[in-house]
Formats: sequence, C-alpha cells, structure tokens
Amino acid sequence: MRNPQAIVSVVLVCLAALMLLVGWFAADSAEVEPATSQQAFDRDLAEAYVKAGCWQCHSVETLRGQLDAEFGAGAGGNQPVGPDLSGMALQFHPDWHVAHFWDPGAVVAGSQMPAQRQLFDGEQLNARGREVIEFLMTLDAPSPLRAPWPTGEYSAPPGDATQGKTLFRRHCAGCHGDAGNGDGPAARWFVTTRPPAKLAQGEAYRIGGDARHAVFGTLSNGLPGTGMPSFFRLSVQDRADLTEYTATLLGK
Ligand code: HEC
Ligand code: HEC
Repeated sequence: MRNPQAIVSVVLVCLAALMLLVGWFAADSAEVEPATSQQAFDRDLAEAYVKAGCWQCHSVETLRGQLDAEFGAGAGGNQPVGPDLSGMALQFHPDWHVAHFWDPGAVVAGSQMPAQRQLFDGEQLNARGREVIEFLMTLDAPSPLRAPWPTGEYSAPPGDATQGKTLFRRHCAGCHGDAGNGDGPAARWFVTTRPPAKLAQGEAYRIGGDARHAVFGTLSNGLPGTGMPSFFRLSVQDRADLTEYTATLLGK
C-alpha cells in the first residue's frame, strides 16, 4: 500500500461501493413513497370506470387509495386477472381503446378480455365509453408496472419473411388487413387519428432511410401518439421476421 496509485484505487473502489449503497437505499425509499402522489384523480371519470366494471379484472396501482376510498374496497383492483392500467395514457391512442372495447381480439392477438359492448349504443361509443377512455387517458403518471412508449434505436437483425407473414396475420391484420391494405376489422375505429397504413400499397410516410431498420424501430417503439402501438413484447426474432415481411409488402 505504499504505492500512491494503489491507495487512490482503493479509495475510489470504496467511494463507488458507498455510492451504490446510497443509490440502493434511495431507490428503496422511492418505492416506499405512495404511488398515488403524482397521479391526478378525476372522480367523475373514475366513477365511469367503476360503473363499467373494469375494476373486476383490472387494478390501477397509482390510484388504488383514491378508488378504494371513493368507491369501496376492491375498486382499485383486488385480484386482477388483467394487467394493471396505471400509465395507460403513455401507451395507447384513444381510438385504440375504442377498437379494443369493441373487439379486443382484433387489436391484441388471442386477447382474453371480453368485448365491452355495454359501452356502445349500436355501433357508436356511448357517453360512458367516452368517459372510461377519458379516464384511461388521465392515467399519465409513470408506474413501476407499465413502461411508457419505448424510444430505443435499433438495427434490424435478419428475419424470415415466411414466418413474418404468419405473424402479420396474427398481430397486424386486425388493423392493417390480411393483405396489408389497411382494411382490418379494427381499422374503422381509427377516426380521430390517421387510419392503419395501407402497407401493401406502399403507404409508408414514416419509413425513411433504411426501410428494415425503420420498420423494426416502428414495431419496437410503436409510433407514439398515433394508433400504431408498440410491439416490444414480441421477441426480437418475431419482430425481425415481421420486419422482413413488412419490407416485402412495402416493396422495399
Ligand atoms: C372479465 C375481465 C375483464 C374485464 C371486465 C375488463 N378487462 Fe381489460 N383486460 C382483461 C385481460 C385478461 C386483459 C389482458 C390482455 C388481453 O387478454 O387482451 C385485458 C387487457 C386490457 C387492456 C390492455 C392492457 C395492455 O397492457 O395491453 C386495457 C387497456 C384494458 N384491458 C382496459 C379495460 C377497461 C377500461 C375495462 C372496462 C371497460 C376492461 N378492460 C374490462 C380482462 C378484462
Ligand atoms: C391497433 C391497430 C394497429 C395494429 C395492431 C398494427 N398497426 Fe401498424 N399502424 C397503425 C396505424 C393507425 C398506423 C398509422 C400511424 C400514423 O401514421 O399515424 C400504422 C402504421 C404502421 C407503419 C408505418 C407506416 C408509415 O406510414 O410509415 C408500419 C410499418 C406498421 N404500421 C406496421 C405494422 C405491423 C408490422 C404490425 C403488426 C406487428 C402493425 N403495424 C400492427 C395501426 C396498427
């Protein structure tokens, strides 16, 4: 230890360990902080959510205290079978929710959620349906249970277009149509925003530069603020296969 360089490194290592510890405790106490602190609460909109019965399958962690206090224990979500809805405003466009309420399976492959037709009069979203969606769009405080729109930069790994075609039918056709003409069963609900792109007709306003990287990035991040959701839950290989197929659809 007579070597001054060795002493400096020992001090640095100790400092780093200390900072790690402090950081760890700080992160720990941040978690203890009530999650409700940042999330605004609109009682009327929340009431529409409760009356619609969503709480029977969902929780809203960031509003659990308020929902339970205002509407009775359980309104914040008891033993939810569906995902926690905190931070929802950061992931889906209101039109996506309309399409999802009408026919969940058309926008989420293999969805277990029952259609919410009580929120429609005929084929029009009714007042309660609008309020429930408004409520979801107030859920904008970050939640440990839901990542916001991802924003990564990617380069597309090689993929298999044949696999991609099968995956496209499963995950994309509900909006973009089986053949990619923008005419899937959910397409008609995208009315306040741009409708699903007619990929097979080369419609790709957002795809510049290297098409494969751009498509892979679009699938991974979605197009924030539009009807195009993120597919970050799909594996990298699935996204690569989808990218390959989509690029052929676009003629690129
Ligand atoms: C009978 C149970 C049930 C009811 C009632 C229900 N949901 Fe769901 N919901 C689910 C399940 C299960 C999922 C998981 C994904 C899937 O299967 O689509 C889900 C998924 C969702 C998602 C997508 C979440 C994500 O991360 O992809 C949203 C948004 C949602 N539900 C909102 C609602 C709203 C709002 C209501 C009330 C109008 C409602 N749900 C009523 C079971 C339900
Ligand atoms: C819930 C409906 C929906 C689903 C499901 C969906 N998309 Fe989209 N997609 C859209 C909408 C809406 C747009 C147009 C966004 C805009 O330009 O405002 C879009 C745009 C795109 C674009 C960009 C087109 C352009 O103009 O540059 C690509 C590429 C794309 N989608 C591919 C896919 C693929 C591949 C899948 C399946 C993994 C998929 N989408 C699933 C709704 C959807």
